[in-house]
Amino acid sequence: MRIIMFAGKGGVGKTSVASATGIRAAEMGHRTLIMSLDIAHSLSDIFALDKGLVDQNKGMPVKIEDRLWIQELDIQEEIQRNWKDVYKYIAAVFKKTGFDEILAEELAVLPGMEEVSSLLYINRYMQEGDFDVIILDCAPTGESLRFISIPSTLEWYIRKIFKIQRRLVSYIRPVARRFYDVPLPEDDYFEALQNLFERLEGIDTILTDPGITTVRLVVNPEKIVLKETQRIFLYFSLYKMCIDAIVMNRILPPSIEEKYFDDWKESQRRYLKLAEEYFSPVPILPVNLLQSEPLGKRNLAKLGADIYGEHDPTQHFYHDQPYEFQQRNGQFIIRIKLPFISKETIELNRLPEEVVVRVGEFKKHILLPRHVSAYKDVKAKMDGSYLDIIFGGKKDGKEES
Ligand SMILES: Nc1ncnc2c1ncn2[C@@H]1O[C@H](COP(=O)(O)OP(=O)(O)O)[C@@H](O)[C@H]1O
Ligand SMILES: [Mg+2]
Repeated sequence: MRIIMFAGKGGVGKTSVASATGIRAAEMGHRTLIMSLDIAHSLSDIFALDKGLVDQNKGMPVKIEDRLWIQELDIQEEIQRNWKDVYKYIAAVFKKTGFDEILAEELAVLPGMEEVSSLLYINRYMQEGDFDVIILDCAPTGESLRFISIPSTLEWYIRKIFKIQRRLVSYIRPVARRFYDVPLPEDDYFEALQNLFERLEGIDTILTDPGITTVRLVVNPEKIVLKETQRIFLYFSLYKMCIDAIVMNRILPPSIEEKYFDDWKESQRRYLKLAEEYFSPVPILPVNLLQSEPLGKRNLAKLGADIYGEHDPTQHFYHDQPYEFQQRNGQFIIRIKLPFISKETIELNRLPEEVVVRVGEFKKHILLPRHVSAYKDVKAKMDGSYLDIIFGGKKDGKEES
């Protein structure tokens, strides 16, 4: 199976490009699902679908063409399907704290529930083989970064916190009951979480396997968009995801000759060149500004043909491995592709079994192979767009070659 994510700044054309890619993939014979990860779903609008038909399906995939489905999750349905016990507890806490019932229920939808629900579906489709391709239409930058950070954060949380927390709560519950009004979660809350975690198992590997999942960043030839896209590129690399193409959307076509657009065309040329310098060797797929909004299947299919020409949209346009582990000269090196930043903005924290890389507000735990704990020293060095984390000075004094 193949997963292709479309990410980028708000309004650049993610949903349009994702939909066009989906149509093209279906035309080429792949059973294709386009899934919206943006809470402000716009797939059914872009495909000009009857809202009634979509609502009737309660957030499950809707077939809209041979081999083509779209899915827009419905968080209330997901709560019934996946989050009942977790939600029940959180709503109970809010109610106890004095919120009225309706507000408590609103508030109990935690950030992340929607994203985790999408991950549950992706994992299930992967196991059941319902689709050949899943196209993910991401929310704007901030939310999509949260989405990709969830699998590794969850893994870390389960490994380090969850079991301890569950045990701790079972010890203090009888005591706490006497002193506090706010209920501590019962064991069925933890049971429910445990069950969810089990159903998420393997999702981290799926999303970071460049043979399965690649990311396409959608950009426009404009200064602010390019700046933000560099940041997205960096964070996706930090989370070990492979970017296989940049879709450069809304280029003014040469056929526009009016003087009025001369400055626009000149600045677009400049930013196109800059984008090539920034993102090379990742290929850039250029897309013209169309005469009107690409709405409906026919227009989207045309957009798909413009983007990919004769290429199969599910192919890998670029192969990359954002992380590499190397062993040389008595050192163990983790090499991470982190373009567009200086060493000063990276914070490194060595723990016994892991190293934590923090860039801005995002951090990533990298689990170390067991033998690396024998190395005493750790230092970091930027080498072009790569960060090398170098472990040296083995405790037993024996240097490996
Ligand atoms: N190549 C293009 N030519 C003309 N209009 C476009 C093009 N790409 C996107 N649009 C229009 O731009 C608007 C934003 O696109 P959308 O795909 O919703 O962006 P995003 O999902 O990134 O927020 C929509 O009205 C869409 O129809
Ligand atoms: Mg969108």
